Amino acid sequence: MTKKIHINTMGCQMNVYDSGQILNRMAPLGYTPTEELAEADLIIVNTCAIRAKAEQKAFSFLGRLATLKGLKPELIIGIGGCVAQQEGRKIMSRMPYVDLVFGTHAIPRLPSIIERITATRCRIVDVKQAPTLAPEDFTTGPFTATDVSAFVTIMRGCDNYCTYCVVPYVRGRESSRPPEQVVSEIRHMVAHGVREVTLLGQNVNSYGQKEGLCTFDQLLAMIDGIDGLERIRFTTSHPKDLSPALMQAFAQLPKLCPHIHLPVQSGSDATLKRMNRRYDTRHYIEKVARLRQIRPDIAITSDIIVGFPGETQADFEATLQLIRQIGYDGLFAFIYSDRPNAPAARFDGKLDEATKKERLQAVLTCQETFTLQKNKALVGSAQQVLVDGLSKHVSNENEMDEPVLDAPSTGVQWSGRTGTNRIVHFLNEPSADSGNEMLTGRILELMIEKAMPHSLWGRLTPHPIGSSGKGAHPYAA
Ligand code: 5AD
Ligand code: SF4
Repeated sequence: MTKKIHINTMGCQMNVYDSGQILNRMAPLGYTPTEELAEADLIIVNTCAIRAKAEQKAFSFLGRLATLKGLKPELIIGIGGCVAQQEGRKIMSRMPYVDLVFGTHAIPRLPSIIERITATRCRIVDVKQAPTLAPEDFTTGPFTATDVSAFVTIMRGCDNYCTYCVVPYVRGRESSRPPEQVVSEIRHMVAHGVREVTLLGQNVNSYGQKEGLCTFDQLLAMIDGIDGLERIRFTTSHPKDLSPALMQAFAQLPKLCPHIHLPVQSGSDATLKRMNRRYDTRHYIEKVARLRQIRPDIAITSDIIVGFPGETQADFEATLQLIRQIGYDGLFAFIYSDRPNAPAARFDGKLDEATKKERLQAVLTCQETFTLQKNKALVGSAQQVLVDGLSKHVSNENEMDEPVLDAPSTGVQWSGRTGTNRIVHFLNEPSADSGNEMLTGRILELMIEKAMPHSLWGRLTPHPIGSSGKGAHPYAA
């Protein structure tokens, strides 16, 4: 009998991957995915605990499900991910309509848990964690994704214990998957049309070290050899573990995209020390310089936390100074948020909300100039873009509402990404022999004609590049 599963995925890319794993695991039990809450027999909320706001979002969504459960008592509601791991049994008393709380290591056990709930209508909490990964912790099929680009988790957990961070408590100890398993999963994905993979881990730079597997750069080299795969990305890197061999990989591996997300968190050495980051700004700046020497076109992005306990005005100005000095291609900035278990929650010197908001705004304003400047520098250049599909629906806040160009009135708007991870929109004129559906998954050369704050506008050039897509390049002879 077919049943419907609805998953609401919140938070990071690892949760997106985990939700795919949940779908794979539940398919043999007859569950097929649905976007519609009302038609679901099983609703899974895959939560994020990185900041208080993310946690509130999960609880407010769960709150809305109470009415649904009232109307449909046989509905099974499960909460998974980092909030489930963190709160465990407490969720059961707070939300009597929740049937299941499962932690970040419980996904492989989900099918048997759901079978038990279906048979006995019991309520289950499973937040057990294991120190190492087992081979059966991951499944490669049935493969449900249809996108050109896919995430692949290569390691779980974190042993770094940055003082603000909840991850080591909710995702457990760092543990890496064997390289053969990762390679075989990617081959499987490529066979299903995936052209680009993003390797995921809290700190991919320390991949395999604990278990004595290969190093991360060696893993990248293996993946680079997979036929049919066009691009490799990875996230996230800890600056202290960024090795010379990994930096060299940017010059040596043709499929490795010239982009690194290298979170600095703060530009103040005193703050970095209290964050337990175990590098200082001098080392960070040296590593960035080396990366740019090895791969001059590399895009560098970062995360910044503003308002960490005890952050003085001088500390904050040092962060702004570092942002200006590095000249990032993009930046994610966050207001510091107390997390249960994380030591910084007990630190003195908490800042008031108004100061934190002001600092966040100052960081965003400072970065805006750089992002636009870097985008503008690409106008007039030819970029290779992996097409990921038709441009998403254009909303009111979206910059694509700007009249981008004197764009031809016919044609369909597509989007893709450069190797440096910039979004490029472009038009393709339909013609008799080139159905528009043909472009997804192809690498095309686009001449960049206009830069916007968060994306670029390009025009197809007559040079066919990629051979991976299904169908011919529209301009090919
Ligand atoms: N408060 C604010 N930001 C945080 N991050 C992690 N923990 C916190 C916290 N408690 C940010 C860091 C990290 C990104 C994923 O989230 O910048 O790199
Ligand atoms: Fe959190 Fe630090 Fe681990 Fe990243 S490296 S997940 S910020 S503890």
